[in-house]
Amino acid sequence: MGLPLFARISGLMIASLAVPAMLLAQDYPPDLSRGKAVYERHCLSCHGTSGRGDGPAAASLRVAPANFQRFGSFLKSDEELLRTIEHGIVFSPMHSWRGQLTDEEMSDVLAYVRFLSQQAR
Ligand code: HEC
Repeated sequence: MGLPLFARISGLMIASLAVPAMLLAQDYPPDLSRGKAVYERHCLSCHGTSGRGDGPAAASLRVAPANFQRFGSFLKSDEELLRTIEHGIVFSPMHSWRGQLTDEEMSDVLAYVRFLSQQAR
């Protein structure tokens, strides 16, 4: 007569918990307008309005913020850029954003950085 009741219930619970988590991890569509909002709040001061690394705080930094419109940034993969956003760069004002931004915010802001990096092409 099929599975014991306990197995059926716990199977159901696992299925209903696992599905939304999988959707978020794999199929979250980055949202450019949310990415722009995150960028303006957290990144613009260094990286500048158009991503050229000329934000108001840039002049006082020892390491110049990346200019996303340079070919070097344009060529980098999403994974590489996301790794930098997530973990930061050692001995650089570009610190890790893990813990301050959610995974969704990081993927949204990555989409916006990608958008800026394409502006010069
Ligand atoms: C305090 C200034 C500052 C802030 C704020 C800042 N960054 Fe940066 N960022 C830098 C600097 C400086 C570098 C270059 C580091 C280096 O080359 O050592 C950099 C590099 C990067 C890179 C690497 C680009 C490449 O071509 O490899 C990415 C991507 C990036 N920043 C994204 C962001 C995002 C997204 C935010 C906001 C969530 C942000 N940064 C906020 C200073 C900043």
